[in-house]
Amino acid sequence: MRKALVAGNWKMNGRAEANSELVTQVLAGLDAQVDSDSVDVMVFPPSIFIHQVKGLAGDKIGVGAQNLCEFGDGAFTGELSSGMLVDAGCNAVLIGHSERRSMFGDTDERVAAKVKAALAADLTPVLCLGESLEQRDSGDALEVVAEQFRIATEGLGEEQMARLVIAYEPVWAIGTGRTATPEQAQEVHAHLRSELAKVEAELAAKVRILYGGSCNAKNAAELFAQADIDGGLIGGASLKANDFVAICQAAGAR
Ligand code: 13P
Repeated sequence: MRKALVAGNWKMNGRAEANSELVTQVLAGLDAQVDSDSVDVMVFPPSIFIHQVKGLAGDKIGVGAQNLCEFGDGAFTGELSSGMLVDAGCNAVLIGHSERRSMFGDTDERVAAKVKAALAADLTPVLCLGESLEQRDSGDALEVVAEQFRIATEGLGEEQMARLVIAYEPVWAIGTGRTATPEQAQEVHAHLRSELAKVEAELAAKVRILYGGSCNAKNAAELFAQADIDGGLIGGASLKANDFVAICQAAGAR
């Protein structure tokens, strides 16, 4: 079975003191309640706090970035390169989050370029995919998500694909309190796995697919009980230590 992964996307939240408290509490909770052999835990703080969080998290919690620039170092004011993220201690990066797609110009093509840049630097791309409410209501969810996946991974070899983590995050479930039902999420996850199987059967068995979108301490266990849901990408609930630890525990117990 694939090892579970729970990742906290802090989005644009945090201050030095609060981060320190949160990470300290999460570490204590993980130590007391979660078997580290059963679940990998990561957090994605705002980039300015990566150094700080990396220092606090030690080896117990992986640290990643919420975005990267698809270009190498140079005249790109305000951006961060893959090399800088590695230097700061990141081992993963979120790519194509719906907030970046809708507000910051991350087109499917740019997402594909960012995935390539991450892989070239040995960062794990956590590739975020998801349909809008309109697309779901018109019955297009599976096709929309599969198309996002195909464009983002076009031209990658099997060895590169095996290094991906995928996060299915229906846009209508993000920050809304309206979680996808376990059946709705499982249907999309299974479809994504069938897309992976088209590339190579073994890939489908290997790649972890996380669910994100109003996942919380109450609903995590039933989502993670689905055959193709390997953990979660958690927004709001990752800012509360007890809730985040409970979600990690649910993932480890699945
Ligand atoms: P919420 O858990 O706050 O809905 O956010 C999900 C998300 O966007 C994680 O990347």
